[in-house]
Formats: sequence, C-alpha cells, structure tokens
Amino acid sequence: MKVIIARTLPAAGLDKLKARFDVACGGLPLDQGWLLRHARGASAIVADPTVPIGGDLLDLAGDSLRVVSNFAVGFDNIDVDAVRERGLRATNTPDVLTNATAELAVALMLAAGRRIVETDQIFRRGDWAGWEPEQFLGHELAGATVGLVGFGRIGQRVAELLSGFRARIVFADAHPMDEAAARHGAQRMDLAELLAASDYVSLHVNLTPQTRHMIDAAALARCKPGAILVNTCRGGVVDTAALVHALRDGPLAGAGLDVYEHEPAVPQDLAALPNTVLVPHIGSATRTTRDAMAELCADNVIAVLDGGEPLTPVV
Ligand code: DGY
Repeated sequence: MKVIIARTLPAAGLDKLKARFDVACGGLPLDQGWLLRHARGASAIVADPTVPIGGDLLDLAGDSLRVVSNFAVGFDNIDVDAVRERGLRATNTPDVLTNATAELAVALMLAAGRRIVETDQIFRRGDWAGWEPEQFLGHELAGATVGLVGFGRIGQRVAELLSGFRARIVFADAHPMDEAAARHGAQRMDLAELLAASDYVSLHVNLTPQTRHMIDAAALARCKPGAILVNTCRGGVVDTAALVHALRDGPLAGAGLDVYEHEPAVPQDLAALPNTVLVPHIGSATRTTRDAMAELCADNVIAVLDGGEPLTPVV
C-alpha cells in the first residue's frame, strides 16, 4: 500500500511507516504539484497544519484512499465534511502535545507580562542607562486572574501549571466541565464576563467557523485595561487588525503570540509593537513531543490500513 507524506515526518513515525508501506515524501517546502501527482492510488495521506486537504485531493487519490492522518492536534486544514462524505477517516495527534503547548502558553504569559523581549532588545542595543526605581514595570501572575478560553486538555494543563503561581483561574467553554473545574478550582464564565475579569486571556479553542475572529474588536473592547492576550491555538481565532488597535490604543498592555492569521507571513503591524512577544508556531516544538506526534500519526495510519479503528479519530 502507498502512503503519501505531503511534506516530511520525523523518523519516529516515518520509520514505522517505511517498515510497512511504500512511502513517498514531498519534502519541504510544500509542493502542491508533487502532492497532486503522487496522491493517485494512495491508501493514506499524512498531512500537517500547512497542508490543505479538500475534496479534490481526496477524489484524486481515488478508491484506494482510507485515511488522512494529520501531524497536529488542530485539523482546520482538513475539510472534515469532505472526508466524512467519502466514508474516509481523518485523525489528529491529541494528548501528546498538551504539555509542550501549555508550557509555551505560560512562557508567553511570563514573557509578555514581564516585558522579557522588549527589555532584552533595549539591553542588547546598549540603550540601558542603569537601574531605576520605576523602570520596566510589568505584571505578576500571582494574584492575577487568568481567563482560559477553551478548557479542554491544553487549557486544563495551563491551569495545572499555574497553580504554583497562585493565579485565579476562570474559563469559558461550550461545555460545563464541572469535574475539571472542581479539580482545578476554576470558575466558569461566559466569554464576555471572562474578558472583563481577566488580567491574562489565553486562547485554547479549535479554529472553526464559530471561533474564527471570536476575539474581534468588540471582544477586545471588553478586556480589562492592562490585560495580556496569549494565543497558542490558531491565528484565525483573533482579528489581527483589531488586536493591533487594542495593543496600540488599549485596553491591552501586551500580547504573546505563537500563531498568526496568514502564516508564515510576519504581521508587520504586530512586529513593530514593543509590547508583543512573537514566536513562530512552536507550541509543540520539542524533540519529545514531535517524536510522540510522529509515532501517533503513523500508528493511526497503521491502525486504519490494518482494518481497525484509528487511535485518535476526528472523523
Ligand atoms: C497543532 O498540533 O495543531 C499545532 O499547531 C502544531 O503542533
């Protein structure tokens, strides 16, 4: 059976697939032409967040195709209706990246709150004239209210990591999450209430038509003056133009961002603002996590091609 890897896959998963199947990798960067040429006759396609998977590609692969295995927990790159309509399976890589992504969210809270990047740059430029009593004042997590938008695996792990910081945790989620709320001592609120109450707002939702631009100008206007926004989920959840406005003219004091609306384009308006910490989609970027994602991605392919149920299905 033929397995097509749209770009590349770490060896921890690639070697498992090569031991069982005829594997072809498109390589980096994504070459749509290669993908279209090689999809025909594939039994599985391995994708990632940068690889759009639509009905046309599925049809091109033809009757042999059984599964699209995404090397990511997010699956907004996949047209899940098209997968479902064709009786195929699609899978993602939940759990294995929860901790890495949650740790990055906390790192961005600390970096934005304590102005780490801004002051690092001032220092490196030689622009620091020495210690002053009122200089570079930031925000502490202790005593702050942290609002988690989305209280799934990653949101809950952020709550757990923050317990040592003595922050108050509130969350907004479509589900009551009573048991998790009790476990983390977290209070459920609706989004408007959470935005008004939180010193830090951290986003942990899937990108769907419902969550696209969930954080728009109206939502940002509800934020507490001096609040910090952290986004490690998907750039499309935030309206970038409205965010730039809220960072320039208030109410936000800062933002820590890992994801962007039009990756890999660097949003110049955000890059020009000293109160932003910007990193290039590195939430799951640790050796341990990427290897675990690659293994799970491969195991999903193997499970389906062996005629079984996928381990972590989205469809
Ligand atoms: C995901 O898994 O969805 C991340 O964005 C990539 O690790």
